[in-house]
Amino acid sequence: MEELYEMKEKKIKLEQGTINKGIIAVASGKGGVGKSTVTVNLATALAASGYQVGIIDTDVRGFSVPRILGTKEQPKARGEHEIIPPKTHGIKMISMGSFVDENSPIIWRSPLLGGALEQFFKDVNWGELDYLVLDLPPGTGDMPLNIMQKIPHAHLLVVTTPQITATKVAGRIGSMAEKMDLNLLGVVENMAYYQCKECGNRDYIFGEGGGLELAKFMKTELLGSLPLLSEIRRRSDSGSPIVVDEPEAEISKLFMDIAEKIVEKLDMGAE
Ligand SMILES: Nc1ncnc2c1ncn2[C@@H]1O[C@H](COP(=O)(O)OP(=O)(O)OP(=O)(O)O)[C@@H](O)[C@H]1O
Ligand SMILES: [Mg+2]
Ligand SMILES: [Zn+2]
Repeated sequence: MEELYEMKEKKIKLEQGTINKGIIAVASGKGGVGKSTVTVNLATALAASGYQVGIIDTDVRGFSVPRILGTKEQPKARGEHEIIPPKTHGIKMISMGSFVDENSPIIWRSPLLGGALEQFFKDVNWGELDYLVLDLPPGTGDMPLNIMQKIPHAHLLVVTTPQITATKVAGRIGSMAEKMDLNLLGVVENMAYYQCKECGNRDYIFGEGGGLELAKFMKTELLGSLPLLSEIRRRSDSGSPIVVDEPEAEISKLFMDIAEKIVEKLDMGAE
């Protein structure tokens, strides 16, 4: 497979579009740590800050991004090599979910991941984007590795829970990224604590400080710690991202804060 895109004057030139600021690939050492939830909420936080954002959901078995984002619309085919992604909350999104839906109007050319990824980048008419956010498959196996190999210059964001085993496997991703042409952006610690609604006391259910330890181990930055909150779960299930619906909520501010750090890091030209 030839390159998915080329770099020109610090911008990413796609077959049908441009990414002005960068590709953010969201990875996790293991499944179920909230990678897709963080992906969608960060994307909505970036969109809320006025940026043009796209998401590619690359998880063949997961395709939870459409649900969390609340997308009901399918992509539309306009000719053999032009796919128009649906736009939800201002975010253009394409998912493996579209790939397996029998009712989808799109006939994907290849059922293999490599082919689908190529289509996601080349056949989709992305137009002008500031950020393209990728939800990678979980883990450190062939699937995420193959994708990481195909997205040179992308910025890698690692999502982990504070639990020691989770941070340990997530550490492996750092060394994977190092071998490839990826910039390590930082760590987001999810499900860091449960906060009592009555007294505000924090219970560190999965242990304390794992995210920071991982960031130190990978010689990168802890960009934020997110609480375990039933509201997040509920809104993921119902497809109404909290940053969109309740921008003033404490958790929305945490997402906005992480998004802001990411914007700054990419503008500085992460090493
Ligand atoms: N901070 C949080 N508070 C409460 N629930 C959360 C939080 N983060 C994620 N969840 C919930 O945990 C579950 C797993 O999250 P999600 O699907 O985002 O994880 P994932 O890492 O993408 O999983 P997979 O490996 O299956 O792709 C979902 O039900 C989600 O709503
Ligand atoms: Mg997921
Ligand atoms: Zn209490």
